[in-house]
Amino acid sequence: MSGHGTPIPMTSRKCGPLTGEARVPGDKSISHRSLILGALSVGETRISGLLEGQDVLDTAKAMRAFGAEVTDHGNGEWTVNGVGVGGFAEPEQVIDCGNSGTGVRLIMGCMATSPITATFTGDASLNSRPMGRVTDPLALFGAQAFGRTGGRLPMTIVGAADPVPVTYTVPVPSAQVKSAVLLAGLNAPGQTVVIEKEATRDHTERMLVGFGAELTVEETDAGRVITLTGQPELKPQAIVVPRDPSSAAFPVCAALITEGSDVLVPNIGLNPTRAGLFTTLREMGADLEYENLREEGGEPVADLRAKFSPNLKGVEVPPERAASMIDEYPVLSVVAAFAEGQTVMKGVKELRVKESDRIDAMAKGLRAAGVTVDEGEDWWIVTGRGFGNVPGGVTVESRLDHRIAMSFMVMGMATEKPMRVDDGGPIATSFPIFEPLMASLGAQVSRDNS
Ligand code: S3P
Repeated sequence: MSGHGTPIPMTSRKCGPLTGEARVPGDKSISHRSLILGALSVGETRISGLLEGQDVLDTAKAMRAFGAEVTDHGNGEWTVNGVGVGGFAEPEQVIDCGNSGTGVRLIMGCMATSPITATFTGDASLNSRPMGRVTDPLALFGAQAFGRTGGRLPMTIVGAADPVPVTYTVPVPSAQVKSAVLLAGLNAPGQTVVIEKEATRDHTERMLVGFGAELTVEETDAGRVITLTGQPELKPQAIVVPRDPSSAAFPVCAALITEGSDVLVPNIGLNPTRAGLFTTLREMGADLEYENLREEGGEPVADLRAKFSPNLKGVEVPPERAASMIDEYPVLSVVAAFAEGQTVMKGVKELRVKESDRIDAMAKGLRAAGVTVDEGEDWWIVTGRGFGNVPGGVTVESRLDHRIAMSFMVMGMATEKPMRVDDGGPIATSFPIFEPLMASLGAQVSRDNS
């Protein structure tokens, strides 16, 4: 089992205005997919702006283990010389995906319809997460999975030698499951159909089309019906990875709750399947503008300007918006603590099976910091204390979860007393420049050991 080494306790203190530009790293979802689809193409894919967080580096390593040539040219420039659909070689070693659910689930999908066997593992967080949601549909293609009790990693997948195409309705709103099935369908003959009742992030669909696959999407009463024609020859691409809206969430939310702040977060993708947080913040009364709204690579992009917003109001977040902001609930709950009234978040059961049980992790930390939180299996409510009235002054667990660690660091920028996390190490999985970037805006986030 991998780990990330010695815990790094971190403290965040109340700070003056946050000002300046926050150039957040590349999108994690698109970075994983760029490496994977590059590996499944014939020829050289060039990627710029790749997120060089540990999750994505683990996917790069995995693609090498399956036979692709992956080269880091520095400064976020990478190339992948792919082996083509169905061209994966059998890895000689166990594939360690570290902390990354996206990495392991997508990679399991794309090897499951080749006649090879691979064993996957990860850190304590990943090894506790459910994989049955992916191995169930992969079994329909003819793949076999042998994991621990409850469908947990470490797990061996024996790929199908003669895969058959499948039609599959995804039972939980999950882009990872949808993507695993589509990637498996690439090496099955005929048409693989995936139906999702609730739309989730659609990067896999968009990028498969970009790489030359035949894929259609139809909106029907049963949901989004995605039809992929198997065994295409994927053509290498030049990809510019946009900046990650899920990482942008942290400087944006920090600016809203920190007195006098005015922060510009340039070049953020506002794909509607990802932008739910920003809609919600605006409903709460946040001073958040989309400047220079434009289209890039077929997707809406804007520079976000976030200013201190002392009069935020609690809102009810509609359950149908959950998928478009699923990774942003932890930091939303922090903003909600500084709002007046209740923020009600429903239809969010998936939060319990992320890198940690995010409802439990945030609820415990918020309560310790003086904030009232009520919760049920698939809902939670944060009762705001209003700006300037949140005590803080506690150490909370980050539970191997980058977004929990960053959310509490954002909180400490505006609580009366500092907030401390027991381990900020996981932040490196998705946002390796979090500390210097926040410091450059004026935040006081420090490692306790240094
Ligand atoms: C992701 C999908 C989401 C999200 C994760 C990235 C992806 O997970 O939480 O951070 O890139 O497909 P689920 O598919 O489990 O909802």
